[in-house]
Amino acid sequence: MVASAGGTPLLGSLLPPSGGLEWHVRALRRRHRAWAEFRAELADWLDTWRPATTGLLLLGPSAGWCLPDAFLARFRRIDAIDLDPLAPLLFRALHGRALAAAAATVSFTRSDALDGLEDLLARHPDHAVLFANFLGQRRLHRGDVDRTAAELAALGARLTGRPWASIHDRLSGRAGDLAGVPRGFACVGVLEPETLARRVGASGEWLDHLTTRVLPDDAARRIMPWAMRPGRIHWVEAGSVG
Ligand SMILES: C[S@@+](CC[C@H](N)C(=O)[O-])C[C@H]1O[C@@H](n2cnc3c(N)ncnc32)[C@H](O)[C@@H]1O
Repeated sequence: MVASAGGTPLLGSLLPPSGGLEWHVRALRRRHRAWAEFRAELADWLDTWRPATTGLLLLGPSAGWCLPDAFLARFRRIDAIDLDPLAPLLFRALHGRALAAAAATVSFTRSDALDGLEDLLARHPDHAVLFANFLGQRRLHRGDVDRTAAELAALGARLTGRPWASIHDRLSGRAGDLAGVPRGFACVGVLEPETLARRVGASGEWLDHLTTRVLPDDAARRIMPWAMRPGRIHWVEAGSVG
């Protein structure tokens, strides 16, 4: 069963519903082992996204725990937006050396990337846009499920004419509720939550992250399993436009 009701209260800027101190500690512990396969699969997919821009608007990247240096270093200028006050410091600790070697610059702004999207696009008219795995957490910041789903489905229309890509959670649930070893796959066309759950052999209760219609219905996508925390699997979707 795929559930879509409910939400989590905001706990403060260091313990928010996505990102924050707990997230960074988990990332530090898991990125080299439990997340290694996901990071490699994501790196392969990012390597296929080649927007013809030298600037990147990087939205919700946190410290870039899962983002490869090689991808980031393809851009001369990265403008990153994240709500997490710890993100800039940790991002620079992880990627600063590789970016400096590639003569790439990065600047961070702490703000809501979705509420301020039009303003960001206007300020960076030549940047490609990457939603770096935060759209699926929108429902944790906003209690209203219907409004969140509508907001996410309308995102593409706000980006008309801009090369953009998104990595986002689709479903999350217990690893024990999967019929077999989780494996990623590529497909074309929208996958409804129930269809995705069937395709990956998921039974039990899975959280729908309300991102079904972020990408255009006919877009190619890569679906990847991510053992985000012990005993839990997130099915992450990646796709691009333009
Ligand atoms: C799961 S983390 C991103 C992981 C990232 N791809 C990585 O490799 O580490 C989600 C991030 O999105 C940020 N975030 C969530 N909602 C946001 C919003 N509306 N605007 C900007 N950042 C947001 C959180 O602060 C958090 O740092």
